[in-house]
Order: sequence, then structure tokens, then C-alpha cells
Amino acid sequence: MTQERTLSIIKPDATRRNLIGKIITKLEDGGLKVVAQKKIQLTQEMAKEFYEVHKDRPFYNDLVNFMISGPVVVQVLEGENAVLKNREIMGATNPDEAKPGTIRKEFAESLEANSVHGSDSIDNAKIEVSFFFDDEEIVG
Ligand code: CMP
Repeated sequence: MTQERTLSIIKPDATRRNLIGKIITKLEDGGLKVVAQKKIQLTQEMAKEFYEVHKDRPFYNDLVNFMISGPVVVQVLEGENAVLKNREIMGATNPDEAKPGTIRKEFAESLEANSVHGSDSIDNAKIEVSFFFDDEEIVG
């Protein structure tokens, strides 16, 4: 099995409710290792660029405003099949559809305020990791 890296974001609804530790525990218990991490306040410009793929969707402006409504934790997770594993641990985008025990089922407030983001493919993981981190900031 190949080791992968993926980008994870703990979103403002979760940092506001002091859930950072509980979310990281779920990721670690699921076999993922945090190899880079920082708590930051996104600017509007950064949030717009990060979610540019959604720029034509009706929820884009609200999503950008939500993502800058408080600090986020951006982190790189490493492990076997890390991209898929992270998505399994997060649960479905819509918390109403997320399986029991997943982060979004337990913690998400809504489809928008869904507590975490995770890269959806290996290619996007590379793009998203390099959006936030230089190579020397990632320590396996
Ligand atoms: P995320 O995995 O960060 O990717 C895009 C985000 O847009 C998603 O999680 C949700 O927080 C948010 N979002 C808001 N409305 C929708 C929607 N109708 N469909 C998908 N994502 C949505």
C-alpha cells in the first residue's frame, strides 16, 4: 500500500466550539498522522482562491464568508490511502447523510458549517497541500 498525503481543514464552526482536539483524535484513531499543521485566519482572497472550483455554484459566496468567519486549522494528514480514509472518517458532505461515528455526523452544524474539509482526490490533495504548506513545513 502506498503512503499518501491529503489536506484537511478544521473549519470555523469547529474551532469556535473548541472541537479541534476531538476532531484530530478521530483522524489519529483512524490511522492518519498529522505531518503539518497550523491555525490561521483565512483572508477573503485565500478562501475565494481555495474554493475557486465552486465559483459558479450558488453557495460559493456564503461558503467563502463562512470560511473567513473565524480561524481554521489547516493540516496535512499522512497514511495508507489517506485521501479516501480521511473522507471516510469525515463522513458525507451533508451531515444528515453522514454515517454514525463520523466527524460530520457527530459535530457538523449544517451542510455549510460541516466542521471539516478534505481533499477529494490524490491530484487535488497535492494542489491543496501546496496551497498552504511549503515542503519544508511537512515533517513525516
Ligand atoms: P467542502 O468539503 O469543504 O467542499 C465545499 C463545501 O461547500 C462543502 O464542504 C460544504 O461545506 C459547502 N457547501 C455548501 N452548500 C453545498 C452544497 N449544496 N453542496 C455541496 N457543498 C456545499
